[in-house]
Amino acid sequence: MKPDRPLLRLRIRAGSGQSGARPSLRRDASRAPGRRGPVTAILVASAVLVAHQARAVEPIHPVPPPPAADPRIVALGERLFHDPRLSRTGEISCASCHVLAEGGDDGEVISTGIDGEKGEINSPTVFNAGLYVAQFWDGRAETLDDQIDGPVQNPIEMGSMWPEVTDRLYGDAAIAAEFDALYPPDRDGDTITRDTIKRTIATFVRSLHTTGSRFDRWLAGDENALSARELEGYRWFKHYGCHSCHQGAAVGGNFFQVFGVLNDSQYFRERGNITKADRGRFNITGNRADMHAFKVPSLRMVVHTAPYLHDGSAKTLRDAVDAMFTHQLGRTAPDHHKEAIIDFLYTLAGTHPLGPPLPSREEASR
Ligand code: HEC
Ligand code: HEC
Repeated sequence: MKPDRPLLRLRIRAGSGQSGARPSLRRDASRAPGRRGPVTAILVASAVLVAHQARAVEPIHPVPPPPAADPRIVALGERLFHDPRLSRTGEISCASCHVLAEGGDDGEVISTGIDGEKGEINSPTVFNAGLYVAQFWDGRAETLDDQIDGPVQNPIEMGSMWPEVTDRLYGDAAIAAEFDALYPPDRDGDTITRDTIKRTIATFVRSLHTTGSRFDRWLAGDENALSARELEGYRWFKHYGCHSCHQGAAVGGNFFQVFGVLNDSQYFRERGNITKADRGRFNITGNRADMHAFKVPSLRMVVHTAPYLHDGSAKTLRDAVDAMFTHQLGRTAPDHHKEAIIDFLYTLAGTHPLGPPLPSREEASR
């Protein structure tokens, strides 16, 4: 089977802020052949180069290393991410809904915030969020810094007011000393402020890239990184046009697309009980064309983050893939194509020291 042209071609919606210039494949000089003879060296070098050129046109790019950052800010951000003093009741931290060791989400259909209040939408992973064009399912926050106002102030997530949060953190001399060492005082002489807290946590979240996935090793030219079946799954992924939406380093996160784009949002008509969250990007733009449009989710850590879809309605990856065929592609496909695609999805997960280990092949064979 040859990697066919996609059956589905979608125009990327103007104004949805497509990110474009993501770091792509770069030739790593350290991969150049070492102590081989000059002729072999040239042959090997050109073979490596050809492999790289071929892979450079793939719609999926490797997860780049995280941006350079002061390690002290990253470490402090990690502490704040796990600090329940950010919530009004002192019970909920970012990590309550984004459990890093389990993939960066909470495994629930809908998250639970303070006082046991249920939220409105499925919690996505925080891994690789720094690669997205915007934050949240509807993209209402443009940056990770702005995103943090959301959960901290949301009455059913953490329910805090910023002055309470800064007061509570000032009550901790060790934390205050760390902020003093890292940030210059503002006009009021404070170093713990809404701005520095947001910057610190956002710097930590930006460090959460999952690198070293088997798929990225294959992109870098390691032919043995994928099994024949996983590679077949990748070809079906492209054949059916999944990559017209799920693409780039995060395999998603680059733009918004209507859920039900090919069947006039049949999903919502059948499910009924439409909530505000279901309206997606329409809530931000007020544009009819954005009704039920969501940021295309990243598939990088998808094997770790069941249940799926913005409403958590898909219990398994197979359910999510079935929904994609019905609502995003308007097609059917034989079981073994879908199962091979799922095996391919397992190869997209990389690792981070705080995250889960690489998913195993046994898991992949399910
Ligand atoms: C009560 C559960 C809960 C808490 C606490 C929480 N989050 Fe979230 N988080 C969510 C949910 C649910 C969403 C999706 C909301 C939406 O898209 O409307 C989300 C979205 C995000 C996103 C956007 C990811 C994407 O795919 O767009 C990031 C980043 C994030 N949270 C980081 C944080 C940080 C940092 C904190 C702590 C300051 C935090 N969250 C606290 C539940 C939570
Ligand atoms: C037209 C754009 C588009 C195409 C084509 C598409 N997807 Fe999606 N995909 C989306 C959007 C948008 C969502 C989020 C929908 C929602 O949650 O309501 C999504 C969600 C998913 C999810 C769930 C992710 C999560 O974290 O909840 C998976 C898995 C997935 N897609 C895989 C695929 C596969 C495999 C294909 C090809 C068979 C595919 N997609 C084709 C746009 C697309």
